[in-house]
Amino acid sequence: QRFSAVIPAAGIGQRMAADSPKQYLPINGKAILSYSVELFLDEPSIAQVVIALHPDDHWFNQLAISKHPKVTTVIGGAERVDSVLAALAQLSDDDWVLVHDAARPCLTPTDLHKLLTLAQKGESAILACPVRDTMKWAGATGLIEHTVDRRALWHAMTPQSFNCGLLRQVLKDAVNANVHVTDEASAMEWAGFAVRLVRGRYDNLKVTHPEDLPLAEFLIARQTR
Ligand code: C5P
Repeated sequence: QRFSAVIPAAGIGQRMAADSPKQYLPINGKAILSYSVELFLDEPSIAQVVIALHPDDHWFNQLAISKHPKVTTVIGGAERVDSVLAALAQLSDDDWVLVHDAARPCLTPTDLHKLLTLAQKGESAILACPVRDTMKWAGATGLIEHTVDRRALWHAMTPQSFNCGLLRQVLKDAVNANVHVTDEASAMEWAGFAVRLVRGRYDNLKVTHPEDLPLAEFLIARQTR
């Protein structure tokens, strides 16, 4: 079994309102993307890391990870799914692939290993956490319509782990069918394939809004101590 990682990093991070895309913002002097990628580079069973970049990207080549022999880059697309498909094109059908957000720098090796163990058994899986807050459904008015039963609700995180050939086919089919694909698992569900939820950590956060940055800084400082 050959394992590879795909890191979609072609987004521009509009919600962050920063000068550079969020994956390039520094945390304790190192880019968020570098943390997200190094975790895979440090894992001996991962043979290759394919990173999808924006066509105008001029930050990636300045990172030390860009010189790593296991790292390859591709030009991403308009949507996350296009970026993932561009990266998957570099891998062979038999590979097992873990797709991980560029902006999730706090993933732990323990959680990564949980997915690798399931992959060895051929199981598609994603890291996830049960939602903690009471969930409200609201329309455009901003008024609550109803409360959603949270007992079956999970936050979908990454990595998300699948056979490469299957994921590629399913993503292509979903795009052709105009399915709104916000993560890889949503395409697999749509196509009727089983995907296991693996209980991850709440602090595997995706740096999305400016207030996430100090949190990620704190978590990373604690991990490396
Ligand atoms: O915007 P969001 O946080 O959902 O993006 C998730 C990941 O997908 C980010 O790592 C972002 O860089 C990536 N992405 C991409 N290509 C796009 C849009 C987002 O690689 N066109």
